[in-house]
Amino acid sequence: MNVGKESSVTLQRIVNNLDWQGLNPSQRRTFEQRLNAHFPRLFGLLLDIYPSRYDLHFHCEDLVQRLLRGFLQRNNRLKALDKQRLKDPHWYKSQDRVGMSCYVDLFAGDLQRLKARIPYLQAWGINYLHLMPLYAVPEGDSDGGYAVSDYRRVNPALGDIDDLRALAKALEDAGISLVLDFVFNHTADNHPWALAAQQGDPVYQDYYYLFDDKTVPDQYEHHLREIFPQVRRGNFTWNDAAQKWVWTTFNSFQWDLNYTNPEVFKAITEEMLFLANIGCEGLRLDALAFIWKEMGTDCENQPNAHKLIQAFNCCLQIAAPAVVFKSEAIVHPDEVVKYIDAEECQLSYNPLLMALLWNSLATRKTRLLTASMQKSFAISPDCAWVNYVRCHDDIGWTFDDDVAASLGINGTDHRHFLNQFYTGRFEGSFATGVAFADNPQTGDCRVCGSMASLAGLEQAIEKDDPALIELAVKRILLLHAVTFAIGGIPVLYSGDELGLLNDYSYQSDPDKRHDDRWVHRVALTDDIIDASLHGTNPHHGIVDSLQHMLSVRRRHAIFGEGATDILTPYNDHVFAVARHLNNQHLVALFNFSEQTQSLDGRILEALGPKAAGDDLLTGKHYQASDALSIPPYGVVWIGANLDGN
Ligand code: GLC
Ligand code: GLC
Repeated sequence: MNVGKESSVTLQRIVNNLDWQGLNPSQRRTFEQRLNAHFPRLFGLLLDIYPSRYDLHFHCEDLVQRLLRGFLQRNNRLKALDKQRLKDPHWYKSQDRVGMSCYVDLFAGDLQRLKARIPYLQAWGINYLHLMPLYAVPEGDSDGGYAVSDYRRVNPALGDIDDLRALAKALEDAGISLVLDFVFNHTADNHPWALAAQQGDPVYQDYYYLFDDKTVPDQYEHHLREIFPQVRRGNFTWNDAAQKWVWTTFNSFQWDLNYTNPEVFKAITEEMLFLANIGCEGLRLDALAFIWKEMGTDCENQPNAHKLIQAFNCCLQIAAPAVVFKSEAIVHPDEVVKYIDAEECQLSYNPLLMALLWNSLATRKTRLLTASMQKSFAISPDCAWVNYVRCHDDIGWTFDDDVAASLGINGTDHRHFLNQFYTGRFEGSFATGVAFADNPQTGDCRVCGSMASLAGLEQAIEKDDPALIELAVKRILLLHAVTFAIGGIPVLYSGDELGLLNDYSYQSDPDKRHDDRWVHRVALTDDIIDASLHGTNPHHGIVDSLQHMLSVRRRHAIFGEGATDILTPYNDHVFAVARHLNNQHLVALFNFSEQTQSLDGRILEALGPKAAGDDLLTGKHYQASDALSIPPYGVVWIGANLDGN
């Protein structure tokens, strides 16, 4: 079949039947132009995903009508933003993009008080703010907000939808791009769709994966991972009301949506446009790897998952093109990169870099980091990594076992070592972390803990040892420094910018104590901020140095649009990155050991013909003819020919 011809005939019919009420001629022109540009792809994708749906034409028409409604509900301010972003699609690649992610309640109390924290964000130069899910949730455990009972209502503890709209506007006025969660793999079991399914409504039972008995679930189960084995074994939950087994990849109260049903795609598209129209500029695609199930596979990263995301992206291009997607694929590195494309997810977490920074900190060796980044860092020039050191989740050791094997490292054994190291079960470790999701069957686990506690600050403060405190602070700066320099948007996890330690209070909260990720979900009170910013404690030193590095980053375009080259430093303890932008060059060197490291000066040949330059952080001059000396846990950013001041 000729999809091109088919789609233009289909589109013509749809356009003729659309209800255009409420649009002025210029709006109608804009919408039609975008339909012409993106519908053919959308149609092709839907045909691929739903090949046997005889009613696909009906669904396409219904979908486009919903897109039109979403477009119509978009206010003029956001429509202007659409135009602006289309003219400057690389806005997220600028060197002055710096992000933060936080929980509304932990960061500020509620949405109104978050507005009052905007000056704090500005003091950090934050212009990308990811707010953890703030939607209505069930009482008690809601997986930190990732069990959504209603995408259009705000959790009353945080405010209401008008507060959210007002905040979005205030952030926009302050030049801060808002990023919201798009939790589209599952809903809470008390979402109206799930409630209707429980009451036996066949239309809504089709929104989820429900089974009369365990036969089919057991066939699937054979190939599936378990994400939270500490709270429940297996991926299916018995529901008494419905008298069915329900697919629940995460917690028992998070019901996986059934995207083999085109009604689900359309319904979720509408929820997505509602979020877009609040005024966010990024949607974080939660757990996107899991959205398509295929018998006989692990039901992660399936080809149709990619097609669905591309189809959602087409819908945004038509109705709200200012909004970009950020992928949350915490999977094998070869799979992570497959989500990154201008037509799929423009942004992506970089879990490989995150995990390997911690690996290098533990081992004091950078070979796995270097080899892995050389293999996996390059992505489409239209896209950007979101580089982070910690986030609200645990650390999983998602490196490529083949790359590890090529360096003589056994992946399984090495993960075991890392888990021991970061959970206080390895003698001499500086880290204070907590094991998470222990799987008694596989012996797997993952690691929780705040940046500062994992980097040694908690132990050092307990021992009241200034030398250990200094080392811990340097580790904190070192890891952040890589994320500031390597290329992409660095996103600070709120609390880490002040070096806050683990908070064990969750252990006495019955809704939280089974989920150790709460250990690194720490509240930022005014007192804590005050003490960190103005005291003489180690936190104060962290703040000053991080802000200094960020101010250097902001000054030079090379940190934004510059191409990244991962260098081979011929020193097992040093990680080296070059950036190039026309005739401007940067060599960034990071020493992951407690000893001074010396390095062959020829690495500076990456700086162009002069092979020399000044450290942007200290002003010190470096040249290729000398051996370079990098202090313990040192960071050196040598620039040559840079624009900026
Ligand atoms: C994502 C979130 C995590 C949550 C899970 C289920 O991985 O980051 O916190 O538990 O999705 O929604
Ligand atoms: C798994 C999932 C990831 C999620 C995490 C939550 O690693 O792949 O999506 O963030 O579990 O702990």
